[in-house]
Amino acid sequence: MTDLTTYLTDWAGPDQHKQAIAKAMTGLAEVSIKLSKLIAQGALAGKMAEVIGDNADGDAQKALDIQAHDMCIEEFRKVPISVVISEEAEEPVYLDTTAPIIVAIDPLDGSSNIDTNVSIGTIFSFLPTPDNMKEGDVSALLQKGTEQLAAGFTVYGPQTSMVFTLGDGVLVFILDEETGKYLLAEEGMKIPSGKREYAINASNHRHWESPVATFIEECIEGKDGPRGEDYNMRWVGSLVAEAYRILVRGGIFLYPRDARAGYQQGRLRLVYEANPVSFLIEQAGGMATEGEFRVMEKQPEDIHQRAPLVFGDNKLVDRVRRYHAEIDKVAARAPLFGSRNVLR
Ligand code: F6P
Repeated sequence: MTDLTTYLTDWAGPDQHKQAIAKAMTGLAEVSIKLSKLIAQGALAGKMAEVIGDNADGDAQKALDIQAHDMCIEEFRKVPISVVISEEAEEPVYLDTTAPIIVAIDPLDGSSNIDTNVSIGTIFSFLPTPDNMKEGDVSALLQKGTEQLAAGFTVYGPQTSMVFTLGDGVLVFILDEETGKYLLAEEGMKIPSGKREYAINASNHRHWESPVATFIEECIEGKDGPRGEDYNMRWVGSLVAEAYRILVRGGIFLYPRDARAGYQQGRLRLVYEANPVSFLIEQAGGMATEGEFRVMEKQPEDIHQRAPLVFGDNKLVDRVRRYHAEIDKVAARAPLFGSRNVLR
């Protein structure tokens, strides 16, 4: 079976950007193996879920968030990376500005699940370093998701896996505990179509906009509603686990914007959560939108900005898109009734 380092080295050949990505991904794999061991220890390794501060946007930072961030930065210092954009650092971390790639990471996704023995992960996205980039010029780092060179995530769950795209399909490598190496388990992963399963935090129902509420209400009505089919529901609370499930089994994930203070642009971060997951989903034949528009075409205005995220099976995501588009048509005629103006 092919191991990750061999696969990446063969893929990179003499190309400078590809070689940098291969080295950075090999480094990330090293970090993920250490993290996986640490997470498997749970409470035996100390108070990993202890809240020890706030990040740039007021989210609680747990001990393991910081530890994972520090481990990634230490590893990235050894590989050709110009800048690290991390959920856990307010400012970009400049390493070697002459290096060809930028990495954006959520070092530990799903941190509300750290002490619950549920899958958590690390999300990553690689972007090209802009020409003549100057340290401190943050605007130079703000690239659309369509510029991503490679992206993916690791999942620390029953298996430790690395799921990524190098821009040509989705690959899954699973950590083989015997050899301590990531081995290729699947290539060309495609989201199965037709699965009637949705994932959303339904406790926010009363805050949703009408296109999302209508879509979910129709799922709940099942056979007795306009869609005439029953739906199943899942909500793990770890984006990596939901994305993995959808890649394997199909269905739809929604973290929409809603009326709560601080959630008008959803919860997930555009640059290091929504974009890498969208890249993977599209490469697996699915769709990823903010509700109506393609996530990867959104111009970031801030490295930590949030974005609504709806992804998965084309048919389901497209239905949500249509509901948004329809309400926007109504809004164009009567602005007070648009999805951006009226919350249910
Ligand atoms: O990174 C944010 C995150 O932990 C995601 O992994 C997950 O999808 C989401 O938050 C869960 O949010 P909530 O607690 O609002 O359901």
